[in-house]
Amino acid sequence: MPLRGKRAIVTGAAAGIGRAIAERLARMGAALTLIDRAHEAVEGAAEALRARGAHARAVVLDMAELDQIEPAIRESARAMGGLEILVNNAGIAAQKPFLEHSVADFERIYRINVLALFAASRAAAAWMVEHRVPGRIVNIASVAGLRGSTGRAAYGSSKAAVINLTQVAAQELAPYGITVNAVAPGPIETDLVRAMHSERTRAGWIREVPMGRYGEPEDVAEAVAYLVGDGARYVTGHVLCVDGGFAAAGLLIPVGDLR
Ligand SMILES: NC(=O)c1ccc[n+]([C@@H]2O[C@H](COP(=O)([O-])OP(=O)(O)OC[C@H]3O[C@@H](n4cnc5c(N)ncnc54)[C@H](O)[C@@H]3O)[C@@H](O)[C@H]2O)c1
Repeated sequence: MPLRGKRAIVTGAAAGIGRAIAERLARMGAALTLIDRAHEAVEGAAEALRARGAHARAVVLDMAELDQIEPAIRESARAMGGLEILVNNAGIAAQKPFLEHSVADFERIYRINVLALFAASRAAAAWMVEHRVPGRIVNIASVAGLRGSTGRAAYGSSKAAVINLTQVAAQELAPYGITVNAVAPGPIETDLVRAMHSERTRAGWIREVPMGRYGEPEDVAEAVAYLVGDGARYVTGHVLCVDGGFAAAGLLIPVGDLR
């Protein structure tokens, strides 16, 4: 139980990657606050964790309500008796041609993926500094923030902002012993992807990912488990890709065709 006695907040924890992260941290012994806008789903996720003996509470919050984020983080820290870990996972995506993107698309996506993530990070970091806690912040970015992909004008650039914000916050919070890292998933089987990826999109990913398949939410949760664990105490400002090799790849000529 390497996280016994630690308290963690996970945003977007009712489903998909966030839920897998919450389950992983609970198995490591952390007490949890699950934040999500999906009322019944987040209550159900917290209840399922409690049924397995974990300390878990649900907070229903739409992260688009930016001025409610700081009070929710502080109240969660108070309710748990402390706060050592924040995982900023809540995010939304869109896939459409650059020429069809509107300013409103950017506003909607940046509001959740960037502004809400910033508001939660600042609130948690301020609490950690105030209480002299050498805490951990992990931001769920995306490989879309590292490489230019078609259809990803608003989403990809929002995740690039997450990566840079991770690096800036890591610099500024290092003197307090707080680490800030990002995980950049490739395609992961979740509701978000099932709703967005057509068969052709799916075939495109499978062709581009060297491991030739989608990942699972648990693969991302393992990376988060490392970054919040004691073994990562000297790791900060890092972007850990969980992407079957996508970000590292260049031309994908099958090895057998090389000569
Ligand atoms: N699935 C992928 O392939 C993939 C790849 C790269 C990055 N990501 C990132 O991982 C994160 C989780 O993605 P997922 O695939 O698990 O998504 P998902 O849609 O399956 O789950 C997201 C969860 O966040 C919650 N949420 C969304 N908007 C919210 C808001 N405004 N306020 C509160 N809760 C909100 C949803 O209710 C849901 O429970 C996102 O940041 C996403 O950008 C996903």
